[in-house]
Amino acid sequence: MTSTEVPTSVPGSADATAAAAAAAGAAPTGPAAASALRGATAGSPATAPTMLGLDLRGRRVLVAGGGPVATRRVAAMLDGGADVLVVAPEVGDELRTLAVTGRVSLAERTVEPADTDGCWLVHACTGDAVADAMLAARADADRVFCVVSSDVSLGSARTPATASVAGMVLAVTSAGPADPRRVAAVRDSLVALVRGGQVDLGAVRRGEAGLPGGPGGDLSTEGLDGWAAAAAAGIAVAAAAAATVAASVSGATPTVEPYTSLLGGPVLHPGTVALVGGGTGEPDLMTVRARTLLAQADVVVADRLGPTSVLGELADDVEVVHVGKSPGIHQVPQPGINQILVDKAQSGLRVVRLKGGDPFLFGRGGEEVLACRAAGVPVQVVPGVTSAVAAPEVAGIPVTHRGTADGVHVVNGHGRLTDLDLAALATPGVTVVMLMGLAGIERIVAEALAGGTAASTPAAVVVRATLPGEQVVHAPLAEIADACHAAGLTSTGVIVVGEVAREGFLDPASPGRAAEAPPSRKQLRDAAARV
Ligand SMILES: C[S@@+](CC[C@H](N)C(=O)[O-])C[C@H]1O[C@@H](n2cnc3c(N)ncnc32)[C@H](O)[C@@H]1O
Repeated sequence: MTSTEVPTSVPGSADATAAAAAAAGAAPTGPAAASALRGATAGSPATAPTMLGLDLRGRRVLVAGGGPVATRRVAAMLDGGADVLVVAPEVGDELRTLAVTGRVSLAERTVEPADTDGCWLVHACTGDAVADAMLAARADADRVFCVVSSDVSLGSARTPATASVAGMVLAVTSAGPADPRRVAAVRDSLVALVRGGQVDLGAVRRGEAGLPGGPGGDLSTEGLDGWAAAAAAGIAVAAAAAATVAASVSGATPTVEPYTSLLGGPVLHPGTVALVGGGTGEPDLMTVRARTLLAQADVVVADRLGPTSVLGELADDVEVVHVGKSPGIHQVPQPGINQILVDKAQSGLRVVRLKGGDPFLFGRGGEEVLACRAAGVPVQVVPGVTSAVAAPEVAGIPVTHRGTADGVHVVNGHGRLTDLDLAALATPGVTVVMLMGLAGIERIVAEALAGGTAASTPAAVVVRATLPGEQVVHAPLAEIADACHAAGLTSTGVIVVGEVAREGFLDPASPGRAAEAPPSRKQLRDAAARV
């Protein structure tokens, strides 16, 4: 849930403030002078607003005004449990409904200075700058904080852009003049960082980092561009944690799973496994769910392929178990991987099995699910961006294209091609994508040609898709192996065979461009109806 500071809509004036202050009977050194001081010094570090988390439950808050700004303020105050009094000559339907249902008290008249009596907070959003200034002056005289929507500098408080996420309320406000759009943009970026798993919530959960302001220090801001940018832009950011989180840090037994149940996202419970599809390797192609679960992991069991760079971002105490084959390191056999997952989970840890692409496409994800289930370990599966589609895609090859390819056949190129593979290769309109086939490309081509595939069938090889060193080679099938050798392709890649693999297929200026799509059924029907 998010809310945003409302932009200034009615300009205020120092004259209006002073006049209103006089009308309210304030001392010369009181509200007008304080407002003037705030206006004069706003933005300097010494007078940056102080962020507080107010507990307004059952406390009276005056909202002066009945328009859209007032309505938003009322909603926020009700969310905080406040006892809301609305004073306005006219109110919109939403406020009226709240009044009729007893959720707010409503006085349908012009606001009066005495309306601030007994209030803990005042929102002046009448739409009339003089009336707002008068209220601010009276509130100052009464030592009640007041937010003036028409001119933030006239009030003694301002409403930050807020968001509830992961059991925290993030609040962002401008340290200087009102700057609602920039403040909201920073708030949204922070929310994305937390929801995207880029803040190590696990460290706080494990009690190794304190809550902001609490023992153990501040939530780390190192490496978080959004926070640094906010600071540089003169924007104040605060995070208040919900009770359940505080309980987990203080050692008290929380009633619910801390943090994660409040994320509004997936939970990685202790003693469970998440098979996480990590995509083709570029971290920004991981799903938000993948990042969120990774941020909760105690142990990550990782392959050589996939987004391995994110492993370097994990907290120091997150154990990383490499099970993929890499230079000097033997691949852990599948039964060994299964056993690691089960053992780690059964010792009470949160386990992420981070896999390249999608776990269920040549990823042995099904075997790992079975092993976990057989051992009674709960397991969840997170889909990932598969190289079977994404690698051709980044090379400008759509695996289906209306009028050219209406089927895709995905093959493990490691073993001999089956009759089904050969039939797919020889069928116009079917795209064949082969994974794990680059090392045996000569054999694959020989089998395909012997099986009846035309030597001129377009083919392409895409290696290291989405990663540094990405390369694409196009050639007719009979020449693709030589073309790969000539280009020095040895790394991880997919082979694509079919019309869509023709060089320049999606380039309108290329001779190899896609043919015009045939008319749709509706177009054919319409044409038939016309004759
Ligand atoms: C064991 S399979 C895993 C496939 C994975 N589950 C997926 O959905 O992409 C490994 C093969 O995926 C392909 N592959 C994985 N990442 C790739 C990338 N970034 N570029 C090209 N091919 C890739 C290669 O064919 C590689 O041999």
